[in-house]
Amino acid sequence: MITNTELELKGNQFPNHIVSYNKNIDVLDFRTENDVTLQITIVRDSVIRFRYSTTSNFDKDFSYAITKYASTGYNYLDIEEAAEDYIITTQKLICHINKINLKVNIYDAKDKTLISHDELGFHWEESYEFGGDIVKMSKTSQDGESYYGLGDKPSHLNLKGKRFENWVTDSYAYGKDTDPIYKAIPFYTGLHHGKSYGIFFDNTFRTFFDFAHERKNVTSFWAQGGEMNYYFIYGPKMTDVVANYTDLTGKPHQLPALWTLGYHQCKWSYYPESKVKEVTAKFRELQIPCDAIYLDIDYMEGFRCFTWNKEYFPDPKRMVQELLEDGFKTIVIIDPGIKIDKDYEVFKEGLENDYFCRRADGPYMKGKVWPGECYFPDFTNPKVRDWWAGLFKELIEDIGVKGVWNDMNEPAIMEVPNKTFPDDVRHDYDGNPCSHRKAHNVYGMQMARATYQGLKKFGYPKRPFVITRAAYAGTQRYTSSWTGDNIATWEHLWIANVQAQRMALSGFSFIGSDIGGFAEQPNGELYARWIQLGVFHPFCRTHSSGDHGEQEPWMFGEEITAVVKKFIELRYQLLPYLYTSFWHYLNEGTPILKSLVLYDQEDIQTHYRTDEFIFGDQILVCPIIEANSKGRRLYLPKGNWYNYWNNKFSSGGKEVWVEADLDSMPLFIKEGAIIPKYPIQQYVGEKEINEVVLEVYYKKGKENSFLYDDAHDGYDYTKGRFSLRTFKLTGKTNELIIQQHKAGTFITGYKTFKLKLIGIPFNISKIQIDNEEIDFEAVKVNGDNTLIIDKDFTSLHIMQ
Ligand code: NOJ
Repeated sequence: MITNTELELKGNQFPNHIVSYNKNIDVLDFRTENDVTLQITIVRDSVIRFRYSTTSNFDKDFSYAITKYASTGYNYLDIEEAAEDYIITTQKLICHINKINLKVNIYDAKDKTLISHDELGFHWEESYEFGGDIVKMSKTSQDGESYYGLGDKPSHLNLKGKRFENWVTDSYAYGKDTDPIYKAIPFYTGLHHGKSYGIFFDNTFRTFFDFAHERKNVTSFWAQGGEMNYYFIYGPKMTDVVANYTDLTGKPHQLPALWTLGYHQCKWSYYPESKVKEVTAKFRELQIPCDAIYLDIDYMEGFRCFTWNKEYFPDPKRMVQELLEDGFKTIVIIDPGIKIDKDYEVFKEGLENDYFCRRADGPYMKGKVWPGECYFPDFTNPKVRDWWAGLFKELIEDIGVKGVWNDMNEPAIMEVPNKTFPDDVRHDYDGNPCSHRKAHNVYGMQMARATYQGLKKFGYPKRPFVITRAAYAGTQRYTSSWTGDNIATWEHLWIANVQAQRMALSGFSFIGSDIGGFAEQPNGELYARWIQLGVFHPFCRTHSSGDHGEQEPWMFGEEITAVVKKFIELRYQLLPYLYTSFWHYLNEGTPILKSLVLYDQEDIQTHYRTDEFIFGDQILVCPIIEANSKGRRLYLPKGNWYNYWNNKFSSGGKEVWVEADLDSMPLFIKEGAIIPKYPIQQYVGEKEINEVVLEVYYKKGKENSFLYDDAHDGYDYTKGRFSLRTFKLTGKTNELIIQQHKAGTFITGYKTFKLKLIGIPFNISKIQIDNEEIDFEAVKVNGDNTLIIDKDFTSLHIMQ
């Protein structure tokens, strides 16, 4: 029997005293008398890896999560042997290893605060049934400590007092606190005494995390196999913890094409072709922007992947081309289950080459999904991934499909109690053969990776676009994701908000929910409120199961249609801002959505907030998540903010009531921000952008803003052909200065900026652009505090 509790101490074993110590550059090995080895690797000054073995040697070091591009190297390293401990010091951390029991304590090197303290520390139970160990770690939960992260858990943002399990699971109509669901991201951040650290437990077996739930002062994590292998990541700023975790497990391999940040329309299912065209035509007729249209499983012939139902879609290439001419990119679903059918090419190839997963004793892994009985490619085999990538040739290169949606890749199996493969199924695991117990949590990740390879290969030089449902840590390198089969309820709107923030905090920013809810049907009000939140999620798609009525923006009457249109238009206006946030995410690893605790961890008011978040760096968003609301209370973080709708100025650090009728939602702009906006387009690239609006929010003091741009697709940007503008704003009592710094060689199509000056506390009489004086009365637009200037100015002085 596998224990599911860390406290089950009966069979537990513990390391005893250290008998030898070895150092090989940045790898330190401590061996105990009872043959436990603790291997410590100094990854960076603030990142240390702890790896334990109970058999005197380690298995081959292999991880799907850690990227080869992770930064390594430290500034300082010292190891000292003291009476009771070995003491490792880096520039950021001091780490004590107790000689008697191998317990670890970690301190902030600067002010010596105790950050992490081993309670029982490492311990283990032997697993007679499967071999190996159930590996466990327990640490002291510090006074007032809070916990965040762990991927898609649909629970309160602060994980304190709860226990979670990581085992990716198909979870149709999951609810608040359902656990586990689709993703396994064994990474959390702790926050106490104003300081934050992270723990990434890189173990793909079923893992558990207990945040002071079983015992009030203890946080523990354990796995049903594999190694105790974790990375300790220090901040003290939580943004740095998340950025370092994202650096370790990888940033997306390329920026998303700009169109993927537009609005997407999906349903299970749009068919036949005439229905698809009817939907897309309606978008254009009503002038509601949309960039992508989805084909769910019914486009296939009997749900066979890589085939088309020719009755519904007689000429897919022509249709996809026609949709493209109208600005719609076609995205198709591809599932892992391959129908057992000896006349089906994909099945035949898989069989001939032995690409399908097998049970322990040799038979193929057979399971029921949409097409009936299926076999399943072993995506953990690099040869299978290559084959799978090759299968996309026709879809991408010939037919012109622009994105692929990987579903059911937990993998989900129907009509069986555990909803997935049995434990004994065998996997290659990139040359480290193992059972499904170890490979389960990465199966979907490796499928998305193979799909990504296919899109990259056949879509090149366009950037690939993949969406996945299942994920393990690091999956963000290849794909975007959605939160699975949610329900059209107000509670689920709350869940969607928390999940998107939590995913962003877990290194995975390109995330969104099924807007409006997948199961059941929203009323107009709920749909409108959901769109309002959804346009601030990096992935923005309406999707529904379709059997409860229609869920297009115009299905809820004219009033709702107008609200939905207004917010999708706002999304399109904010595209340059969102694209710039993506650029920050790719460069620095900072999440695109920032929960308030991430934004200001020193303010304890933020530690238990769930609803408000910062979109990018400078826009505070707070969705309305209750029916019949005319507004809501929210916490305005410290600093000063402008209400986006009426430019009213408020100081933060307090709760405020904000009016928000159905056609509005609480949105605030940080003072000093310069927010770039595009004109409204029906799809990305519809218009040539001749001018970018910059909304300048006066601040007495300084603030930096950015505008990143490039060709919006392709890879030229990696060769310097991008344009990065840094705006340095300095506001004084009777003067506002904006300095611009430019980098990159890309020449943007637009020539001018339209500056809208908001909150200027003086009457403008004089303007200097690059030291040349200009009469404001002569240049101002509409008698307003608006002016149009050359995009390449270097300094702008606005004076009383
Ligand atoms: C389950 C997915 O979560 C859902 O989004 C999809 O529409 C159905 N499978 C059918 O493919």
